[in-house]
Amino acid sequence: MQKDEIKIGFVTVSDRASRGEYEDLGGPAMQEWIDRALTSKWTAVAKVIEDDQALIESTLKEMADEHGCCLILTTGGTGPAKRDVTPEATEAVCDKILDGFAEQMRAVSLQYVPTAILSRQIAGTRGSSLIINLPGKPSAIGECLEAVFPAVPYCVDLIEGPYLETDETFVKAFRPKHAVKKG
Ligand code: MTE
Repeated sequence: MQKDEIKIGFVTVSDRASRGEYEDLGGPAMQEWIDRALTSKWTAVAKVIEDDQALIESTLKEMADEHGCCLILTTGGTGPAKRDVTPEATEAVCDKILDGFAEQMRAVSLQYVPTAILSRQIAGTRGSSLIINLPGKPSAIGECLEAVFPAVPYCVDLIEGPYLETDETFVKAFRPKHAVKKG
C-alpha cells in the first residue's frame, strides 16, 4: 500500500443481511455519504458480516492492519439486543476510545428520535485507523456522520493517516490553524 493511499472500511454488521435475507442498505448508505464528503481520491473495502464478536474483531483488525484503512465505519449491532456486540468488538480492538464521538452522535441523534438513547455506539483508534460505530438504520448513518465528521480529518492527521480533504459545501473539516498539510 502507498503511504498516502486513502482506504476506507465499511462493515455492515447484521445477521439477516449477511444471510441474504434482506438487502444491505447500510453499507451503500455509508459509502454514498463518504463519496459526497470527500474530495480526496479514496477506495472502499466493504464487508457484510453476522453479529459475531470474534468475526467483527477480526474484520476490524484486517481492515486496519492489513488493508491500512484510515477510517473504518461500522453500521448495526449497537443496540441492547442480545446479539448486538459491535461496541464490545470495537472496544476490544481499539488502543484508545474517543468518548466525544459517541457523546456527540447520541446527543444529535436524540434530536431526531428518542430511541437514539438505545445505541451503545462508540469510536476509537487502532494504530493509524479511526473506527466509528453507526446504528443500523440507514437514516441514522447520515445523522451521525454529519454530527462528528468535521473532526474526522484532523483526528486522522493526529494518528498519522493520510490527509483527508472534504467538499466544504457538504461537510467542512475543522483543523486548528497550526495544522499544515503534509508532503
Ligand atoms: N440514531 C439515529 N440518528 N437515528 C435513528 O433512527 N435509531 C436508534 C438508535 N440510534 C436511531 C439512532 C435505535 S431504534 C436503536 S435500537 C439503536 O440506534 C441501535 O441500533 P442498531 O442495533 O441497529 O445499531
